[in-house]
Amino acid sequence: MCGIVGYLGEKDTKGILLAGLKELEYRGYDSAGIAVLQDHDFQSYKAIGKLVNLEEKTKEFVTDSFAAGIGHTRWATHGKPTELNAHPHLGESSYVVHNGIIENYAELKKELVAEGVTFLSQTDTEVIVHQFEKNLKSAASAFEAFTKTVSQLEGAYAILLVTKSEDKTIFFAKQGSPMLVGINAENEKYFASSDTPLIGQCTDVNYFEDGDYGYVTKDEIAIFDATGTKKEPIFQKLSTNKLSAQKDGYRFFMEKEIYEQSTVISDTLLGRLTETEVVFDELDTNLFENINEIKLCACGTSYHSALTASYMFERHSHIKTSVEVASELRYRDPILTPDTLFVVISQSGETADTLETLKMAKKAGLKTLVICNVDNSSMVRLADASILTRAGVEKGVASTKAFATQVTIFWMLSLYLAQKRETLAADEITKQIQLLREVPASVQVSDTLHERVKRLSKRYLHGHGFFFIGRDVFFPLALEGALKLKEISYLHAEGYPSGEMKHGPIALADPELFTIALLPQHLLYEKSKSNVEELSARDATVCAISPLVFDKADDYIPTQNHADYMLEFFEMMVVVQLLSLEISVRLGNDVDMPRNLAKSVTVE
Ligand code: AGP
Repeated sequence: MCGIVGYLGEKDTKGILLAGLKELEYRGYDSAGIAVLQDHDFQSYKAIGKLVNLEEKTKEFVTDSFAAGIGHTRWATHGKPTELNAHPHLGESSYVVHNGIIENYAELKKELVAEGVTFLSQTDTEVIVHQFEKNLKSAASAFEAFTKTVSQLEGAYAILLVTKSEDKTIFFAKQGSPMLVGINAENEKYFASSDTPLIGQCTDVNYFEDGDYGYVTKDEIAIFDATGTKKEPIFQKLSTNKLSAQKDGYRFFMEKEIYEQSTVISDTLLGRLTETEVVFDELDTNLFENINEIKLCACGTSYHSALTASYMFERHSHIKTSVEVASELRYRDPILTPDTLFVVISQSGETADTLETLKMAKKAGLKTLVICNVDNSSMVRLADASILTRAGVEKGVASTKAFATQVTIFWMLSLYLAQKRETLAADEITKQIQLLREVPASVQVSDTLHERVKRLSKRYLHGHGFFFIGRDVFFPLALEGALKLKEISYLHAEGYPSGEMKHGPIALADPELFTIALLPQHLLYEKSKSNVEELSARDATVCAISPLVFDKADDYIPTQNHADYMLEFFEMMVVVQLLSLEISVRLGNDVDMPRNLAKSVTVE
């Protein structure tokens, strides 16, 4: 979604803000802007489209003395992507940037307009700066006015505000949208909506909690909690190495992240497997006590890993498991019972719909667990327990290694629960642990495989659509393959259970219908094969992904002879990821930042 940066110091404020926004580009945006208060004078610039447009506008602007600066990349929610709607938004002598949604902005705006305030934009954000300046007229200080303003806002927000009335200060507030402040030995202060802009600039960071607000000056970081009580910042080392977030030789972050899956899955497994047991030190042993059902909830790719998990929990742990799309669960009247463990899955830990279902479950008194890739994210800090996937920074909007590590965690967790519920014999658990140790090797990308997929991809650039089909856990993998293709090639694709094709979709079968068939050797192979033969017989164009040659396929991507279907799952996952990547490259799309998409959907 949107990105926020802030800087307080005497270096090149403009350059620092623009560099920080560049690090946030992967989150998706349609406009950007900065505002700098230097020598008691404001300069602000905004531009629609890519950041280069903003850089062009600011190239004559020099910042070489102490300044307070804020910047923003916007992904339109209220109001079209225009310069007027781009942040920062100006009052009379103050600027504000904001992530999230001010849910009561309409009533605030109505009052302000009635009092003669002129609004330039269609955004909800603009009410913040006008409300602040309204409060400033009667407040004893800018901070008092800011405090009152924050108390009047409803909804989700991460706010930075600068004002001439306190020109060496940045005011902040955080509720529901992530933001952190960073420091370094040069007494500079940095703000951002995620870690990456601070990597290499700061040594220590404080992640703001919901309800936090306050101000930062050259010599002070003043944080107040939702009750107005002052609290000390809790600094921790900023661990992520900036280099790990660079492409280091690959064409795209997504490509790098596909190749990285082998090493990051090794990290995911680290410290969690003995020869005979799965271990999660981060879980209290009583987490599953009195639990008779697991409800998994997520969006997008994370929903697909949740679907995969449901097969494993029922198969290995013999526990009733259901899976929900977060945006659906939010507005249903679900029956949530305390004997259900509510598990949310999220790479970012900030997806609004998923976060809201987590809050629903907590309110209903359920124990909650989050499977997440971002430590200190909103979901990690809210859930009763969390398991980190350890995939490292995932900058490609199309998720790959996050999915791979989520499925790995769920495989382990289903065994962990099987141990506790004694639903698998010790020797079976030992065997599964041995298989888990082979996952990193199963996702190694061979040059032969990548070259074959690259050459094959030229045949799949048109057509009137794709079906990805599979059975059992290969059905959620088919959904994931279809989503990858849609996201970065903009071609229509559907994931479907192989057995369902004859219940309607086969009517679409003709040479222009491309079917990517997942045919694992160790799971329902004959059933799946006959489903695909029905399509071949009707002249659909079939690409079979299988360790076994399938003579009725038009194309064939051979996979290895693995000992188990789950290892076939992981290898076929790499194949469908590479296939979408290479089709997208041939179509000339922006693989890492596909149109209309954001890395983390922090609004509804
Ligand atoms: C996946 O490729 C997409 N980027 C998207 O579906 C994503 O999985 C979804 O928005 C959920 O994000 P999260 O895992 O950060 O919650």
